[in-house]
Amino acid sequence: MNLPKVIDLLNDVLRHEWTGVAQYSQAGFVVQGIWREVYASKFFKSAEESFGHAKLIGDKIVALGGVPVAERNPVKQSSDVQQLLEYGLEFESKAVELYTKVLEACSDDRPLVIFLEGILLEEQEGVDDLTKIIREYRAIQTTSRAAQAS
Ligand SMILES: [Fe+2]
Repeated sequence: MNLPKVIDLLNDVLRHEWTGVAQYSQAGFVVQGIWREVYASKFFKSAEESFGHAKLIGDKIVALGGVPVAERNPVKQSSDVQQLLEYGLEFESKAVELYTKVLEACSDDRPLVIFLEGILLEEQEGVDDLTKIIREYRAIQTTSRAAQAS
């Protein structure tokens, strides 16, 4: 295993998780209207999940002899619920991609693989969950567009 490379990739993951903490919290703050009841708590829960993952990854980076990043990427913002959910799906898909990348780089370290696979599964659950929610929104849009056109 190329340790410096694995630490760099873990820091890409950590930067992404810090982004999730801020992006999902912001979504929880700004979501308004009738859907606030449903989605504010969902977004805050996702922010907490990102923080939980950030803690695990930061601790692991130090255990491997690295220094965890304290920066995050830009946060995507919107006041539209569907857009917030689309950003969430984009975020979870990117997380799956980043964890998969580290897993490829550390494939000969079984404990690290198992550790990362556990988190990867949770990221994939996020993708599945948001995909199912967004599918409904997209179907409603298609139906209303068809109704307007006729
Ligand atoms: Fe995560």
